[in-house]
Amino acid sequence: MTEFSSQWLALREPADHRARDRALQATLVRYLENIASTRMGAIRLIDLGSGTGSNLRALAPFLPKDQHWTLVDNDPVLLQKARSVLIGWADEVPEKNTTQGKTSISAIEPLTIVKQHKHITIEFRCDDLAKNIESVLALPADLITAAAFFDLVAEQWLHRFCNALSKPLYTVLTYNGLENWSPPEASDAQVLKAFHHHQQTDKGFGAAAGPHAIAIIESLLQQRGFKTCSALSPWLLTDQDRFLIESLASGSAAAALETQLVSQTVVNQWSVSRAHATECQIGHTDFLAMPEVS
Ligand SMILES: C[S@@+](CC[C@H](N)C(=O)[O-])C[C@H]1O[C@@H](n2cnc3c(N)ncnc32)[C@H](O)[C@@H]1O
Repeated sequence: MTEFSSQWLALREPADHRARDRALQATLVRYLENIASTRMGAIRLIDLGSGTGSNLRALAPFLPKDQHWTLVDNDPVLLQKARSVLIGWADEVPEKNTTQGKTSISAIEPLTIVKQHKHITIEFRCDDLAKNIESVLALPADLITAAAFFDLVAEQWLHRFCNALSKPLYTVLTYNGLENWSPPEASDAQVLKAFHHHQQTDKGFGAAAGPHAIAIIESLLQQRGFKTCSALSPWLLTDQDRFLIESLASGSAAAALETQLVSQTVVNQWSVSRAHATECQIGHTDFLAMPEVS
């Protein structure tokens, strides 16, 4: 299993939120507003690979007033952290929620918060999506969503996922392989090639689809009658994102080195020069798919 630290997720959250494609998000918001206006009760969203809840924090302020989120992750420490971060992020936390959810690490208490006049109930589900995606997709939901998740999964798993999906899907910030660092460095292409090789190693779901994930989902869902739409959502990093650039340079270098496709000397030199890059674009794709209305 690949582990993600809450520090890394917190470091990338502002760049993630800036990068999301606003037009695609607006299409989703209109769809969910329409649902909310035609029936009673909260709109229900399931966030796959939620980490500490960044996707909720980005989207919830734009969605209808009553929301029910289920955050699904296989890392109980990240889910516990999600609960405490969301309490800090909220404008109001009704008193019954203030136990900090410490009943047990794997059974995290649901939470209700108010943020920008939205009433948001959040459940935390610790589950391995590599094994249990079908049961998670069978839960009641108006939308399946995810952020920075689908590049981790395998093509075979995507077949299972698409076979079981009957609801709209909105997934953002899937890595698409397009990178551009300034100023350019002679070893960029060689290191990027090794990094892409690493991107396609097993992240707990079998050999990962990495940068090909969205093209695969798009084709599978179109074959199943879904209407799909995608938009680019690159990170555009400048000097103001210095810590993220440095962390990205060292993380990408370590991944490239692990593949043994590039020498330690080249990787070390690349890592040092990339940590001082003045600008960097890291490509992602946002994607929306709607099932055929029967
Ligand atoms: C790159 S992080 C993204 C987290 C969050 N969506 C965000 O945007 O900050 C990928 C997340 O997928 C979760 N994950 C990885 N493998 C998983 C699995 N087999 N089942 C459930 N979650 C998984 C990780 O624990 C991590 O939180």
